[in-house]
Amino acid sequence: MRAQPISLCLLLTACQGAIQVTPPPEEVPAMKVIATAAIERTRPTRTTPGAWSNPSALWLQSGEVTVLDGALVRQKSGTDFSTLTVGTDTESTLPGVVKALSRRGEGVLLAATGGFFHDAPGRLLRAPVSDDFSMETIRFIDAVNGAVWVTTSTDAVRVLNGHRETVRLNDEAEPGAVQAVVGRTAASALVVKGASLYEVDLGAKTVKTLARGLATVTAIAHRGETVLLGTSDGLIEVGTTVTRHTLGPIVDLEVVGDTTLVTTTSQVLQVSSVAVVLADVTQPWPDALTKDGTGDVWFLDGASLARLSTSITLPPPSFAADVRPFMTAHCRSCHATGANYAPQLDLENYGTAKTWAARTVSRLTDTLAPMPPANTEVLTPAQYDVVVRWVEGGLLP
Ligand code: HEC
Repeated sequence: MRAQPISLCLLLTACQGAIQVTPPPEEVPAMKVIATAAIERTRPTRTTPGAWSNPSALWLQSGEVTVLDGALVRQKSGTDFSTLTVGTDTESTLPGVVKALSRRGEGVLLAATGGFFHDAPGRLLRAPVSDDFSMETIRFIDAVNGAVWVTTSTDAVRVLNGHRETVRLNDEAEPGAVQAVVGRTAASALVVKGASLYEVDLGAKTVKTLARGLATVTAIAHRGETVLLGTSDGLIEVGTTVTRHTLGPIVDLEVVGDTTLVTTTSQVLQVSSVAVVLADVTQPWPDALTKDGTGDVWFLDGASLARLSTSITLPPPSFAADVRPFMTAHCRSCHATGANYAPQLDLENYGTAKTWAARTVSRLTDTLAPMPPANTEVLTPAQYDVVVRWVEGGLLP
């Protein structure tokens, strides 16, 4: 389904305002921290398609990989790349340097030094609202349900139905500047100000403090109802609770379907209950990571485009050959008999292990209350990866 055309184009400079919100003083629960170590599996084959002069951003548009290369926008067509029109037939424009981009269904919204650009059939079009923003200062944009949430170097701004409103968050406990705004709906958003994370409801004019202690926000993304924040100190997942995965400094973050891709300062990772290394990267870029319809992952590494053919996968592990020996070695001592106050679970039995599979993965990856209990044995992600792959691979007997 295609996203609706954005309301940005209707914006009038005259419609501007500010909404003031102040959080009530409250206890803020501590962020949960999960030590997600990157693990190695067989890496996908890496190729470098196309010849590039100065690539700086990459996105998926109409299902095709699209690259901003210097002043040109080039889109994959067949085995090659062809130039995509920017602007109308009579008036062409240059995007300049991409500052931020946001996925909109199948399409894209770019904030570049030349203005805001959105996808149209076979081209990119500049939105008139561009003239109301100093494009140099834009840090993030996020198109959600017809609203566009814009983070400038100083403000969190919502553009909706031709109105541009600044969210002013007054928290005595947080003197820091606005870092990012991520839309939840057209009326509510998450705001990171200084090291604090808030949920703001502009309809009710309320705000709730969700977490403190955030580092520098470098990327934003949505995975269903969950908001992901890439930071200089790992990946933050904001769902019903706030969890930080210690993956290292994050440069880029992209969710495609149910795949979460992350670029750190040295690697491209696919993150689920474990983080799997897809490739090394020597010169990572923000806004330069995606996955196409065939399942291949694309990213920019310095001046080259990298394509990872993810079609080659290992056969998934089976319970009898791979998982049962793991359960015998690491779980049996307590769970077979119910020793040490453990619930009696015959995890060496296929049926029981299958029933407890989801719980098992969440306890294996849980660094606060892991299984086995931390005072008995600490397993590394590489050790329990066999169980994760068994679950991902369809729980083979
Ligand atoms: C040293 C003893 C011990 C070992 C070894 C052990 N467990 Fe546990 N396990 C417990 C205890 C005690 C509980 C109940 C308390 C709790 O949930 O933390 C428990 C609870 C569980 C539960 C159910 C609790 C829930 O979250 O619903 C699962 C599933 C589980 N363990 C899986 C495993 C797996 C898988 C292994 C091996 C990788 C393992 N355990 C190894 C002691 C152990």
